[in-house]
Formats: sequence, C-alpha cells, structure tokens
Amino acid sequence: MPNAPASPTAATAGTELSVVVPTYREAGNVEALVRLLDTALAGLRWEVVFVDDDSPDGTADLVRQVAQRDARVRVVHRLGRRGLSSACIEGMLATASPYVAVMDADLQHDETLLPKMLEVLRAGEADVVIGSRYVDGGGLGGWDASRAQMSQTATRLSRMVLPTPVADPMSGFFMLPRAVFLDRARGLSGIGFKILLDLLTARPTPLRIRELPFTFRTRVAGESKLDSSVAWDFLMLVGDRLVGRYVPFRFVAFAFVGGVGVLVHFSILTTLLKGLSLPFTTAQGVATVFAMVFNYAVNNLLTFRDRRLKGWRWLTGLLSFMLACSVGALANVGIAAYLFKQDYQWALAALAGILIGAVWNYAITSAYTWKKKP
Ligand code: GDD
Ligand code: MN
Repeated sequence: MPNAPASPTAATAGTELSVVVPTYREAGNVEALVRLLDTALAGLRWEVVFVDDDSPDGTADLVRQVAQRDARVRVVHRLGRRGLSSACIEGMLATASPYVAVMDADLQHDETLLPKMLEVLRAGEADVVIGSRYVDGGGLGGWDASRAQMSQTATRLSRMVLPTPVADPMSGFFMLPRAVFLDRARGLSGIGFKILLDLLTARPTPLRIRELPFTFRTRVAGESKLDSSVAWDFLMLVGDRLVGRYVPFRFVAFAFVGGVGVLVHFSILTTLLKGLSLPFTTAQGVATVFAMVFNYAVNNLLTFRDRRLKGWRWLTGLLSFMLACSVGALANVGIAAYLFKQDYQWALAALAGILIGAVWNYAITSAYTWKKKP
C-alpha cells in the first residue's frame, strides 16, 4: 500500500533534543536527574539516553525501570567496556534529535542551562554551546585547591591543540546540532574523559563557540571516577592531536619508553660490570632481561593502558613481548650490520637498525601482546 499512513502508535513526533548521560555507578542519581530534566525541559520534546558501562550497582537496570514509566528515558548498556568519551559518542550516535547535549549523571551540571543552550543553537548563533565554569558568572563550586589546579593545568595544555581560545574546553556539559556532531564523529579519538576537547579538535577548522556560565554543584550521591589514568588519557589525547597526523602517538610513547629502557639497561650493566665485576656477557644478558621487563611493565601501564594486561595475562604478555623484542633485536643488528658493510657511517647504520627494530617491536606487540579487543 503506497503512502499508507503510519500506524497511530507510531505517529508521535520525534524529539528535538537528546540528552546523553554517561554513567558508571550512578544508581543514586538517575531518578533525581530525570525529575530535574522533566522540570527544566517542560514544554520541549526531549529524551534522555543513559550510556552505562555495566555498572555493578545496577544503574542500567534502574534506568530500564524508569524507562518503563517514562518513554523519554532510554539506556545504552555496554558490556566489557569503560570510557566516558566513548560512551558519549555511542550515546549521541544512538539518537536522532536535531540537537544533542551531553551532561553528567551526578547532578553537578546545571540542567536549567539546557533551554538557554537550545535557544542559542536554534538561533544559529553557534556550532556548540558550552556550560562553562571559567566565564563571568560561572564557578567551580566546592572544588578543593588541588583539583582546581589540575583542571587549570589541563586547560592550559589543551590550548596547544585548540584552533580557537576556549575558556572551559574541559567541560563535560555542552550541546550541539547533530549535523555538527556527525560532521566530526569520524575524527574523534574517543580516548579518556574529555569528549568536548575531542570534538573541538576533531577537525582543524574552528567551531563557533558560545560559553554560558554555570556553577559546578557538589556531588551528593555516588563518587567521582576521576583517577590517575584520566590524566594519562588526557595526555594521550593531546599528544595524539599534536603528532597523530604524522605518526601514531602510541608509537611515540612506545619509543620514549624504549629510550628510558636503554638508560635502565646501561645503569644495570655498569652496576654489574663495575660493582660486581661480572663477566661482560653475563652482565649484558642480565641487563637485557631487566630492560625488557621494565619496558614491558611501563608500556603495559601507560602506552597500552586501555588494553592493560593483569594477573596471568600479565605473565603470558611478558613472554610474547620478550619474544617479539628478541626478533626485533636480531632485525636491528642485522640491518645495522648490512648498512655498515655498505659503507654507511656507523652511527647512521646503528640508528637505522634501532628505528627498524622499534617499529617492528611496536607493530608486533600492539597486534599480539596488547591485542585490541574485538
Ligand atoms: N559510561 C561511563 N563509563 N560513564 C562514566 C565513566 C565510564 O567509564 N566514567 C565516568 N562516567 C560518568 C560518571 O558516572 C558521571 O556521570 C560522568 O561520567 C562524570 O564522571 P565523574 O566521575 O563525576 O567526573 P568528575 O565530576 O570528576 O568530572 C567532571 O568534571 C570535568 C570537568 O573538569 C566531568 O563532567 C567531566 O566530563 C568534566 O570534564
Ligand atoms: Mn562528577
């Protein structure tokens, strides 16, 4: 039947605004947030999509219960995954409204700002509206000095990669037209906590930005998930934006760790040679093993933090790493020896060997030792 009318139940108009809320252990906040949104967004066609990473406190199930009473509430339940930015991206991709907002579940972001954000976007005055703590009228609320300091350092660092100045690029509270998001979606790194910075830097062309002040509220239920890995993820994101166009930032980190490993190697070697007067071959052998374990442990902790191996897998990972690097060392020496014979300068021959060894080690260990989860 051509042009048949849609069934009456499907005739409800779509939403204008989707609010995407990443959650990890936020069971104590979900219902309160939906109530606050209900008040703040009265008169608008909106929905809220919680993206939960299988929180052990049952946040996803709770959202389903709320969704049974309120069709504006949905859940994207992810298994075996963690990550604030990637959760926001998947949440936004799972919606159809012409405007999308991202906010925290813990009531720290001021939901009454949402209608104002929407107005700015409807009027076409900006490509993205940011809830900002660092413009006149905004504030950090009850943040302690060290957290405030950290946030400001990160903000300063982010200027190295931002095409235009932004007062609060670290904010996790913003709204943008779907078209702007989709235009940048494929350029997102999805690493870590800073989805807004990721969006702003996903393309070299600057977005038209509007920042509206709000004061960060204090968290009442649940706790913050900010830890040391958030800082490392942030550096990975900034580093990736700085050099990622030319060479994967992970490789730069891997090579840097390798460089430090050489220092470790030499300090152990001199200790064993001079301190304990061991024969050179023994000392060199011991130093090599130590340096490999060092490189493996540090790369596991930092370079491949998102694929970190633990328990038994740590040990089997170490074995595959050592195997790969032994082949890498052979390639290194072989190529250097070949070039040296071809009358290349010794330093140049050595450097070429080291480079090829490093690329080999990186390629093999990132594909096998730290295999990406399917
Ligand atoms: N799905 C998912 N997966 N959600 C997560 C994860 C995760 O791995 N980690 C944290 N979240 C959710 C939390 O449940 C919360 O709703 C939101 O992301 C922010 O996490 P918090 O742990 O409350 O972050 P915060 O208060 O320390 O940091 C906030 O302030 C920053 C400004 O400096 C966040 O809003 C950041 O986005 C913001 O950049
Ligand atoms: Mn929070």
